[in-house]
Amino acid sequence: MTTSDATDFAPAPGSADIGVYGLGVMGANLARNLARHGHSVAVFNRTPARTRRLMERHADEGHFVPATRPADFVASLRRPRAVIVMVQAGAATEAVIDQLRALLEPGDIIVDAGNTFYRDTQRREAALRGSGIHFVGMGVSGGEEGALLGPSIMPGGTAESYRRLGPMLESISAHVDGEPCCAHVGPDGAGHFVKMVHNGIEYADMQLIAEAYDLLRRVAGLDVARIAEVFRSWRDSELDSYLIDVTAEVLGRTDPATGRPFVDVVVDEAGQKGTGAWTAQTALELGVAAPAIAEAVFARAASSAPAVRAAVRGADLDGAGAPPALPGGAGAFAASVRRALYGSKIAAYAQGFDLIATAGADNGWDVDLGAMARIWRGGCIIRARFLDDIVRAYGADPAPVSLLTAPVFASAVRDALPAWREVVALAARSGVPAPAFASSLAYVDQLRAPRLPAALIQGQRDFFGSHTYRRVDDADGVYHVLWAREGRAEEKWS
Ligand code: 6PG
Repeated sequence: MTTSDATDFAPAPGSADIGVYGLGVMGANLARNLARHGHSVAVFNRTPARTRRLMERHADEGHFVPATRPADFVASLRRPRAVIVMVQAGAATEAVIDQLRALLEPGDIIVDAGNTFYRDTQRREAALRGSGIHFVGMGVSGGEEGALLGPSIMPGGTAESYRRLGPMLESISAHVDGEPCCAHVGPDGAGHFVKMVHNGIEYADMQLIAEAYDLLRRVAGLDVARIAEVFRSWRDSELDSYLIDVTAEVLGRTDPATGRPFVDVVVDEAGQKGTGAWTAQTALELGVAAPAIAEAVFARAASSAPAVRAAVRGADLDGAGAPPALPGGAGAFAASVRRALYGSKIAAYAQGFDLIATAGADNGWDVDLGAMARIWRGGCIIRARFLDDIVRAYGADPAPVSLLTAPVFASAVRDALPAWREVVALAARSGVPAPAFASSLAYVDQLRAPRLPAALIQGQRDFFGSHTYRRVDDADGVYHVLWAREGRAEEKWS
């Protein structure tokens, strides 16, 4: 085959079940996964060399229908046509949608499988609705390997589009206990919203694990090899999860160039592509408390501010003194860290699910929270044993208002609290930052408190801004104190 001839491929019209537009690693792997599951897949890439490469290397894995021109690609799809777009989020996605819109017909489906902000998805869905083209924002988790071998898939969009896409997507998703890790999340931006929150939880989970590692190293004084063993041993506990496996692997690696632990040769500045920040921003916007997720985003930001870190380090502020003695030794402390980590993890997931519940109610998405936990059990980055408990918790009637109140998690948190408090206190006394552990604990303490100092804040607001307050003995009345007047009388405003 020549490399420049636009007529290289002659796709038969109407012969493909589904199309994949964009054959970077993620797109190519999704296409291969579809083909391996018996679906006929139209493939297209703006640069034809990528399409050719896919055909040269993987044509024998299934039935591919390659095209060099967008019009041929679209014509090769059976009706209603379904195209998965897997190009860079932002301008590239926008341009491809515009191009496809001109070629597709009412009833056809465009799927954006990238990490797109859900409000962009809502906007695009609304813009296409008049044309009769379905726009589906679809979360895909599991990285490159997941895309090929079975990701967790979170499609939004209309129920009609899911009837066309669902069987194919479910066939290529990961499966746990025979169940696919793919379900229709809800209409319009629901799929991308849930994927965004998945990533927010991923950030919190990773931060909590990183804090646990730091505490084991700097408070308990364990070396990296021993900490890798501790994480390996946690695979047999309620913490069993993909991220714990990843952590054990990373900590178990020795840098071949220096012979030092790999973690010690990596620059300690955590990167981020934005999905965690979107989750935290959205939580702020919706007024949902998600401090573990926000702390995880802030911790990455603090790590990535080398100039500020150097300046503050140089100011020699240390007031922590010598690390306190550990009452039961390093082994007992590691067990406490495990409990604290599990309690914090429950709090972080409770925050993520609360966010989905709130956005679901605000947008009328009717998201099945138990189904979200079910489709996260395999394929995705936050897959974990305890998601089974979350599935069961949301199966109860009535469903829990917060995961913290589901009996299985209420008792786990109750058990974890003494160790959790001790770990947070020791971290503070040692000068070892544990923001996600501490804020998750504060989250639980806030929600279980019979009274909060929010009452004082209401008083302050009323004092300086006449913002009014409600009284405990009159739930509906609105009150204001005439703070500036003599006698400071209370008035009922409504
Ligand atoms: C997934 C991941 C994936 C990606 C994150 C990483 O579910 O497969 O979440 O989407 O790994 O976007 O995000 P950061 O680069 O921001 O850590």
